[in-house]
Amino acid sequence: MREVAVIGIGQTKVDEHWDLSLRELAGFAVLDAVKDAGLDQVDALYLGNMMSGSANHQQQLGAYIADWVGLRYAEAVKLESACSSGASAFRSALLAVASGAVDTAVAVGVEKMTDSPGAEITAELSTAADADWEVSQGISFVALNALIMKRYLYEYGWDKNDFANFSINAHANGVHNPNARFRKKISREQYEKAGMVSEPINLMDASPIGDGAAAAVLVPVEKLGSLPGYPIIKIIGSAAATDSIAVHGRKDPLWLTAAEISSKKAYQQAGVTPQDIDFFELHDAFSIMAALSLEASGFAERGQGPRLALENEIIPTGKIPIATRGGLKARGHPVGATGMYQLVEVVEQLRHTAHGTQIEGAKIGMAQNIGGSGSNIITHILKRIN
Ligand code: COA
Repeated sequence: MREVAVIGIGQTKVDEHWDLSLRELAGFAVLDAVKDAGLDQVDALYLGNMMSGSANHQQQLGAYIADWVGLRYAEAVKLESACSSGASAFRSALLAVASGAVDTAVAVGVEKMTDSPGAEITAELSTAADADWEVSQGISFVALNALIMKRYLYEYGWDKNDFANFSINAHANGVHNPNARFRKKISREQYEKAGMVSEPINLMDASPIGDGAAAAVLVPVEKLGSLPGYPIIKIIGSAAATDSIAVHGRKDPLWLTAAEISSKKAYQQAGVTPQDIDFFELHDAFSIMAALSLEASGFAERGQGPRLALENEIIPTGKIPIATRGGLKARGHPVGATGMYQLVEVVEQLRHTAHGTQIEGAKIGMAQNIGGSGSNIITHILKRIN
């Protein structure tokens, strides 16, 4: 397998983009990434998206987007793994370039959620859960995560407000990200007084819906030649794992086994340990998911994820900074695009262009994208090598 680097990134602001079509959203991110890479063309396009068929009445996104960005006749395909569709697209691009099947590839994630009424989007999001055993009981995604959080509070004795700093940190970081949906700090009081969505998850524990797209161009390191002016950002670890789609089917509903497996494999490939990771773009769709992800990826003991937040170790100057550009909570969570936003933000940090929340001397960054409530998890580790 060849070593692969990211040489171009592009993203749109996460927002309510009523003025942009699905193809424009994805297309602008792709065109920006290709331009940033200093290229005119790429060989293939891999696109992550969850709900275009129902929310936008459009499938066939491979050909649909490739044609619009001037890649007619190129290989192009859509990948779907619910909220981890973005990282699935990135991993497919990586495997294609690493294998030698293609020389240049663009990975893009896109989701356009705000054209549909909230109730419809809530129903569509629940298709990431088990239709027979979970959704048929009337459960939504927020409710599913609320059950997990409730059990977590009971098992480990935390108070709900011990999770406040996950949200406070994300919103404080989002202020500095021009592409974030929310760019306002929140206080502890705002967290504690936020309206309840599904007990114990309140508005400040939940990521918002939104529209957005993010993209990256991948090439083999051996072919970098004179490209580009930026530092070389190499992908040194990439792994994916699945688990039971229904939460009750898992060995332990409070442990993300797929996160543990994929992060361990990625650490092994990269030859690093959690101590070597300078920052972690994790999947804080709900604050409970941030805690579970930190634990399963080796940054905290079982049941101790909230301690890192309470002790301020997750802020940009902490031991393991997370959500450095706002995370899902403040940058936003256009589901099929999120994994690509995380990877683009890792590249920004490693290029040392994450203005306002730059991790000093950042050299190794990790991104973890979670599909469903933990059923399809993809971990990537990237390293700046010059
Ligand atoms: N965090 C902070 N503020 C939020 C927010 C969030 N998650 N969601 C909405 N808001 C704000 C809006 O900006 C708006 O503010 P304004 O009145 O100042 O303009 C206000 O709250 C109401 O917005 P609205 O869109 O009407 O909210 P809603 O009640 O329809 O939706 C949630 C709120 C939490 C239900 C919705 O964001 C949601 O469903 N989130 C979870 C999505 C999800 O499950 N994703 C998949 C995860 S795996």
